[in-house]
Amino acid sequence: ANKLGSKKERTLALIKPDVVTKLGDVLESIYSSNLIVTKAKMTSLTWRQAADFYAEHQSKPFFNNLVQFVSSGPVVAMELMGDEAMSIWRRILGPGDSAVARKEAPESIRAKLGTDGVKNVGHGSDSIAAAARELEFFFPSTIGHGPSNTAIFTDC
Ligand code: TYD
Ligand code: MG
Repeated sequence: ANKLGSKKERTLALIKPDVVTKLGDVLESIYSSNLIVTKAKMTSLTWRQAADFYAEHQSKPFFNNLVQFVSSGPVVAMELMGDEAMSIWRRILGPGDSAVARKEAPESIRAKLGTDGVKNVGHGSDSIAAAARELEFFFPSTIGHGPSNTAIFTDC
């Protein structure tokens, strides 16, 4: 906690291919929860890159479907910053299965925008270690390669 008692965190928010045409709705949820976007890029992942990103799930029965979907079109990767950013972003998303989200968290973006448990709008880091790894995956460190593009956020 800093001197104001807040726990400022960073998290990776990955917007999956099913909703890259509905970014406005996603950003509205982010800003109304007092998180700020400190990095963002639209990109797309090869099958291999998506498999590396989701390596922790490689033995799961849904792994192939998951990797296939996430590499099927553009994604938007964002770094979000704010008090308890990781848990707040995961709350904005809602339960992983969009059908469950519609029952249990109707205000969540998975409830509003998701299709099922695979086409489920987004991903959020679940620990400080995961956030560090996942942010580095999409936004590799550029120490020694010029000024930070996030210097303007250091006073937030
Ligand atoms: P997981 O890490 O369990 O979800 P979260 O971190 O959001 O709580 O799962 C990662 C992704 O794997 C999830 O967003 C969609 C996919 N998935 C399935 O396709 N089927 C499943 O049964 C589960 C658990 C996950
Ligand atoms: Mg997870």
